[in-house]
Amino acid sequence: MQEPGGPMLVEGPVEVVQEDGHIARSDRPVVALCTCRRSLIFPWCDTSHRGRKRPKAPPLASERHTD
Ligand code: FES
Repeated sequence: MQEPGGPMLVEGPVEVVQEDGHIARSDRPVVALCTCRRSLIFPWCDTSHRGRKRPKAPPLASERHTD
């Protein structure tokens, strides 16, 4: 179960072996794993994925400057 751009929710308890070999453990019944790698508490989601700003819409043709 995963929301696009958001965490992957898995049933706990879980152990996550990180790239450096460190094992992160959680005993929570449901764990949100960060998939965006922006979390300050990686591998757990801290909702940093929500901070993404939408790309600015291109200006309308009537708003474009033609110097
Ligand atoms: S998925 Fe939530 S902070 Fe990365």
